[in-house]
Amino acid sequence: MPDTARAPNDLDSFWMPFTPSRTFKDNPRMITGAKGIHYTDVSGKELIDGTGGLWCCNAGHGHPGITKAIQDQAATLDYVHNFNQGHPIAFEAASRVVALAPGFDHIFFTNSGSEAIDTAMKIALAYHRAQGQAERRILVAREKAYHGINVGGTSLAGLPLNRAQFGTLYPHVHHMRNTGTEANRFSRGQPESGAEMAEDLQRLVDLHGGGNIAAVFVEPVVGAGGVYPPPKGYLERLREICDTHGILLVFDEVITGFGRTGEAFAYQAFGVTPDLITCAKGITNATVPMGGVLVPTRVREAFLKGPHAMPDLFHGYTYSGHPLAAAAAIATLDAYRDDEIFENVKRVAPVWEDMLHGLADLPGVKDIRNYGLLGAVELETQGDVGAAGKAAHAALWDAGLIVRPIGDSCAMSPPLILTEDDIARIGDIWRTYLKG
Ligand SMILES: Cc1ncc(COP(=O)(O)O)c(C=O)c1O
Repeated sequence: MPDTARAPNDLDSFWMPFTPSRTFKDNPRMITGAKGIHYTDVSGKELIDGTGGLWCCNAGHGHPGITKAIQDQAATLDYVHNFNQGHPIAFEAASRVVALAPGFDHIFFTNSGSEAIDTAMKIALAYHRAQGQAERRILVAREKAYHGINVGGTSLAGLPLNRAQFGTLYPHVHHMRNTGTEANRFSRGQPESGAEMAEDLQRLVDLHGGGNIAAVFVEPVVGAGGVYPPPKGYLERLREICDTHGILLVFDEVITGFGRTGEAFAYQAFGVTPDLITCAKGITNATVPMGGVLVPTRVREAFLKGPHAMPDLFHGYTYSGHPLAAAAAIATLDAYRDDEIFENVKRVAPVWEDMLHGLADLPGVKDIRNYGLLGAVELETQGDVGAAGKAAHAALWDAGLIVRPIGDSCAMSPPLILTEDDIARIGDIWRTYLKG
């Protein structure tokens, strides 16, 4: 057998996600360690993790309680499936998550946000079938939406490049507009204008018939599309239209769940309760992959009408409720509670907002958007769309701050343990960069 440990690492075997592999090797950015809000790169340089991993390391890196829980679980029960048998901590993890989500009583566990989205699509379609409404096949999403990359999420996607390589997948999807407009540039938090764009849903109802629409999928705050908080009144109006026409409203809280807005879930921050919630990322502080769909009893009950001996839902993953993920989730929720992490978001979010909007008058800034501990600095396009974003990402990295370029916007979603001093440091790095 060849000695693979000695195989030359030419950076070629790993087909990297969402990465231009031919240019990655020109300047490979390699991270080797993480603690708190910092990463350490291969040269030993420390960087502020301004993106909280990928919108997911909410309690900071290397949390000792979470690490220990995973180690202990691996030593006790490394794996058991949950098909027609179970293990106690998957049930405990489920109870702990739903306890954070008033109005929701059950969670279907997945391994990622993408799987949560596909699961929610299937639950929505199966729910209407169980109610005798199999004609409800249409799904509605939004331009600039990101709902992961499985076949369902790609069909719902509102980002042209994420769709273009694949053509039509699930065919019955229609899109509403994204709510970012000229008028609400530089809004602090929720824009005052733009609620009228919820009428896009009314137009789809008028065109296709509300009785043919199964569900509307929205991120309460658009994340990977560039960080767009909902205009005041927008989510409320979507809720109203869905109620009138029996359409399920699904909030994709893969980013906004677990404290990002200062509440456990964004639906609590906005005061609009959806019918289904998808989550992932912060559920385990990103330590072990896990996602899920939160479901209220009134939806679940529709699945309990068949023969007793039949599965409620013909759906499930080998790793649904994996013991390591369940242990990580419980320890993560302990950390959120014991370290008062959601409270910290409430405390520092106004400082974060002030820091970001303090950049508004600097050269090259086109828009600033924020909500909770989410933020985006949109730069004026220079030459090709995306070039300014990429240049900022590279220069900020060199200056010790990681941001996520999305076109010419630089998105940030730092760990929720951020302090006022950390915010000041991020502001300094940005100001130095923008002043050139
Ligand atoms: C809103 C939203 N939904 C779904 C996903 C997909 O999650 P995952 O990458 O865990 O599959 C993401 C990932 O960023 C997301 O932001």
